[in-house]
Amino acid sequence: MGLDRCGVERIGVIGAGQMGGGIAQVAAQRGFRVFLFDTSPKALDLALARMTAQLERGVKKGKWDEIHAKETSERIVKACELEDLKDCDFVIEAAKEDVGVKCDLFHRLDALLPPKAILTSNTSSISITRIGAATKRASRVAGMHFMNPVPVMPLVEGIRGLETSGEVFSVVEELAKAMGKTFIEALDRPGFVVNRILMPMINEACFALQEGLASAEHIDRAMKGGCNLPMGPLELADFIGLDTCLAIMGVIFEGLGESKYRPCPLLKQYVTAGRLGRKVGRGIYRYDEDLKKMG
Ligand code: CAA
Repeated sequence: MGLDRCGVERIGVIGAGQMGGGIAQVAAQRGFRVFLFDTSPKALDLALARMTAQLERGVKKGKWDEIHAKETSERIVKACELEDLKDCDFVIEAAKEDVGVKCDLFHRLDALLPPKAILTSNTSSISITRIGAATKRASRVAGMHFMNPVPVMPLVEGIRGLETSGEVFSVVEELAKAMGKTFIEALDRPGFVVNRILMPMINEACFALQEGLASAEHIDRAMKGGCNLPMGPLELADFIGLDTCLAIMGVIFEGLGESKYRPCPLLKQYVTAGRLGRKVGRGIYRYDEDLKKMG
C-alpha cells in the first residue's frame, strides 16, 4: 500500500505529541512502517495509548475491522534514540516549534540518514529554507504541514524551500496522497497558505472581542452559522493554543511587515496570563477536565 506509488518504505516521525502521534497513525493505517521517536518514553506511551483508543473506536463504529487496527499498531515501532531512525527513507519532523530545536534535529538527521533520504518538517511557521540550511542536503528538505486533528483533517500543505528539488517535492506530494490526504503546494513564505489566512481571521476575532463588538459566544456563533465553519475562530484559537496562534501571528507580522498583521493586544494578554487554551483548561473559554467547554 503506498509503497509502489512513492518508493517510501520506512517513515520516521519525530515527536509523539498530538501532531506526531496523528501523523504516525495515518501513515501506519495506510500501510507504511513507522518509527515514532520522542525523547520522552512517557510521551511515546501516551501517543500509542491514544492511537489504540482511536483504532478501537473505529472498530466499534464499523470504520475498519480488528485486523486493520491490529496491523496498524504492529507497523509502529517506538524509537527512544534518534539512531533508531537510521534506516528510514523519509522523515516527518513534528517536534517542538522552536527554530533551534528543529535546526539541531535536521543537522543530526543529515549526518545519520542515507544520502537519499528525504527530510520534511511539519512546521506551521518556521522557514523551510532555514531548516534546509542546517543540513548538507537542502535539496532533499521540504515542508509537510498537516492540520490538527491529523486523522480527521484532509489537508497537507507541501512547502518548497528555496533549494527543494522538483523530484523530492513530487515524492512529498505522492506520499501525502498515499496517506489519503489532499495536497496543495505553497512557497516558503510566512504562514504558508492556511495560517496566512486563518491566523489573521483569529487575530481579527480577538480584536472584535477586545472592542466589545460582541461576546465570545456570539462571535463564534456568528462565524459558525454565517460561514458554516465547524468551530468559531475563538473556540478554534483555544483548540490550536493561544500561544501557538500568537507565535504564528508574530512570524507573519515580522516576515511581511504590514500593520494589518499586528498581533492583537488581548491575545498577547491571554498568553501572558497563562491562558493558553484548551490544553491548560483556560483560554478565551474555560474547559473541564474532559476538555469540554464550560463557557
Ligand atoms: N483524533 C482523531 N479523531 C478525532 C479527533 C482526534 N483528536 N478529534 C475528533 N476526532 C473524530 C471523532 O472520532 C469523530 O469521528 P466519528 O464521526 O467517526 O466518530 C469526528 O472526528 C468528530 O468528532 P466529535 O464528534 O468528537 O466532535 P466534532 O464533530 O465537534 O468535531 C473536530 C471535532 C473534528 C475537531 C471539528 O470541530 C473540526 O473540524 N474543527 C476544526 C478543526 C480545524 O480547523 N483544524 C485546523 C486547525 S489549523 C492547523 O492545524 C494548522 C496550524 O498550523 C495551527
